[in-house]
Amino acid sequence: MQMVDLFAVQTIDRLSFPTPARAGLFEHELAQNNIAHYQVLGLGEDGRSPQIIGFSGFWLIADEVHISTIATHPQWRGHGLGELLLLYLLFQAYDHPANMATLEVRQSNRVAQALYRKYQFEEVGTRPRYYRDTGEDALLMTMASLNARYHQFLKEQQATLYQRLQSEA
Ligand SMILES: CC(C)(COP(=O)(O)OP(=O)(O)OC[C@H]1O[C@@H](n2cnc3c(N)ncnc32)[C@H](O)[C@@H]1OP(=O)(O)O)[C@@H](O)C(=O)NCCC(=O)NCCS
Repeated sequence: MQMVDLFAVQTIDRLSFPTPARAGLFEHELAQNNIAHYQVLGLGEDGRSPQIIGFSGFWLIADEVHISTIATHPQWRGHGLGELLLLYLLFQAYDHPANMATLEVRQSNRVAQALYRKYQFEEVGTRPRYYRDTGEDALLMTMASLNARYHQFLKEQQATLYQRLQSEA
């Protein structure tokens, strides 16, 4: 993710979360936060600017990756692209190297929870009333073994996902 991507990123962010990121957050993350890592997913042909259709971010804290955000544009959901973003985030986490990944997710967000469970995240606790906008609890989910075996699992998931993406292209 670069500054030039932020108009598209903020549009997707507003369409994706009950309370969007506060003004200036992404600029701060890109320019000032050394532990932050953000990616965008773009669609496009060679030589043309890609259309940004999703993004993800994480903070690397010691040997732990904390997933701060992930979203795909509502028009592009259900096609494996959120999974692609998560997969690459986890490859990056493994390469850093981190040993575990954590995140918070709204208790009502069954779609995101299903995605995380598919990647072997487990629910390890709750943060009561974590989301100030709705007073909703957060589930704390963790993937505690970013090891060689998990890396192999990621590669297998990648092969399956690529087959799906190619068959739907
Ligand atoms: C969560 C999100 C990124 C998923 O992206 P997506 O592109 O729609 O998801 P994918 O098509 O890649 O699906 C990946 C997995 O997510 C889960 N999933 C996706 N859509 C689902 C649905 N409608 N119902 C249940 N599970 C679903 C499944 O586990 C799916 O794997 P499968 O295809 O093998 O069943 C997307 O829904 C989103 O941007 N939501 C709003 C922002 C958000 O809630 N982010 C998470 C914050 S913690």
